[in-house]
Amino acid sequence: MNQIQHVAIIMDGNGRWGLKHKNSRNLGHKAGLSTVEKILKETIKNKIKFLTLFAFSTENWKRPQKEIVYLFNLLEEFLLKKIEDLNKNQIKLKIIGNKKKISTKLKKILQNSEKITKKNKRLQINLALNYGSKDELLNTFLILKKKNIKITLENIRKNLYTHNIPDPDILIRTGNTKRLSNFMLWQLAYSELYFEKKLWPDFTVKDYNRIIKSFKRIKRNFGNI
Ligand code: IPE
Ligand code: IPE
Ligand code: MG
Repeated sequence: MNQIQHVAIIMDGNGRWGLKHKNSRNLGHKAGLSTVEKILKETIKNKIKFLTLFAFSTENWKRPQKEIVYLFNLLEEFLLKKIEDLNKNQIKLKIIGNKKKISTKLKKILQNSEKITKKNKRLQINLALNYGSKDELLNTFLILKKKNIKITLENIRKNLYTHNIPDPDILIRTGNTKRLSNFMLWQLAYSELYFEKKLWPDFTVKDYNRIIKSFKRIKRNFGNI
């Protein structure tokens, strides 16, 4: 049976859910946060060590300002309210993505959240914020060039945001679209991909466990036979 070290999730479908149920995309984002909390607990139960959540992409800045502001406020509020709980549960928070465009206020909250939870060992959450895989790779190449480091597979890997964690075993995308939307293109090279019809706020612990169970039985070849 396959062991699971790392699950990555593209939490898609909040906007559509919000429009359908509450006539507001933003309320869909709020509903999506409840799913995050449920999935967090279940990840711990399953003894999975790394969970990467795609929260905001480098392309999401194209959205209306009102939605962007709402999303960042939601995150800010969540962290201020929940970081102590996360800490008590031995969860480590790590932000991956380009911090350049993040407001000074949120940057401070993020830094503080990372600092408080730095030593926790039970589960590491990578929150992908202003994350784009192409942006990550470009940054990596620029670092290598600047430090005059030889371009090798290993040196590229060592300079990604995810340098000290294993690649995802499982990628889940909810929201009924089969695309990666610039998410972890390097790291997903050999991940098992699960595209779910359900919108993120409707995704349940039962759905999650069905995926985990199915993954455990897959024969992973990594090019071998
Ligand atoms: C994903 O849900 C969450 C973010 C991008 C922040 P969407 O907001 O993309 O929801 P849909 O795809 O429009 O329904
Ligand atoms: C991917 O969803 C980004 C996040 C879930 C944060 P999008 O809704 O932005 O993806 P596209 O634009 O439909 O490909
Ligand atoms: Mg979407």
